[in-house]
Amino acid sequence: MATPASISDAATTTATARWYRRFALPERVLHALLMVTFIGCALTGLPLIFAAKPWAEALAHLLGGFESAGIIHRVCASIMIAVFVTHIALVIRRAIVGKDLLGILWGPDSMVPQWRDAIDMYRHVRWFFGLGPRPQFDRWTYWEKFDYWAVFWGMAIIGGSGLLLWFPFFFGNFLPGWAFNIASLVHGEEALLAVGFIFTIHFFNGHLRPEKFPMDTVVFTGRISEHELRGERAVEYARLQATGALAQKEAAPPSFSARAFGWIVGGTALALGVVVILLILYSVVF
Ligand code: HEM
Repeated sequence: MATPASISDAATTTATARWYRRFALPERVLHALLMVTFIGCALTGLPLIFAAKPWAEALAHLLGGFESAGIIHRVCASIMIAVFVTHIALVIRRAIVGKDLLGILWGPDSMVPQWRDAIDMYRHVRWFFGLGPRPQFDRWTYWEKFDYWAVFWGMAIIGGSGLLLWFPFFFGNFLPGWAFNIASLVHGEEALLAVGFIFTIHFFNGHLRPEKFPMDTVVFTGRISEHELRGERAVEYARLQATGALAQKEAAPPSFSARAFGWIVGGTALALGVVVILLILYSVVF
């Protein structure tokens, strides 16, 4: 079965395929909020770094001026911090209420890098060069774990330095003046790194890999087709089948409107990301 190339193709495919739950509602909502606020912070922060470039002034003007861009930046930053805190709270709840501390730290549902990830990466690189068969993955691939931890530590660094810049009088009570210079440097550099990573590597993984192109809507609909689950995550599929958990994960096909929503939101994010990367490249080169 070929990967659907459009929403209408997908609608035809959904009628015949089985679908499974991959992301629960809270995970989808948190991802959507993170996505929107990250793009908001990038669009309102980058004009400060490239303030001398005509596009930066035009973009700030479009957002209501530099002052209003600063307000939007802080609103997006506050929501982003709330998303981070909520995520940590959900992990703690899973450990205590769900009694699943072990599952968080180890095993197929854990985001903690494991020996198997190193082997998967080695096999994947071999496959890239045609030196071996394509590896089969479990619930989380090694690059998904990399993305997760990059965002996790990036949030701590970018959020921590951003709060210092936001509340200098408060933090000035405990910190020396040079800490604010460092915070300003770290915030800007980490922002560039994060924007560069998310808008190229992360977007490539979600949209531009041949088997995903032009759009993977799983993070919006929360559902993955049997075709994709078996093809991409054969280890997870076999494990769920062996334990009898597969049937419990079966879900109704994603509705047309859910997929259309994914295409519109994902497509808009992709377009904005490409524009931002081009603007950064242009500013660095010229
Ligand atoms: C998560 C919490 C964050 C907080 C609390 C925060 C806070 C701030 C503050 C207070 C400033 C100074 C702005 C001004 O003076 O108007 C700033 C600048 C900036 N922010 Fe953020 N921000 C956060 C996240 C982000 C993210 C995620 C990005 C990028 C995707 C970003 C990119 C930038 C950039 C590029 C600047 C300009 C830095 C410079 O002038 O060198 N920020 N941020």
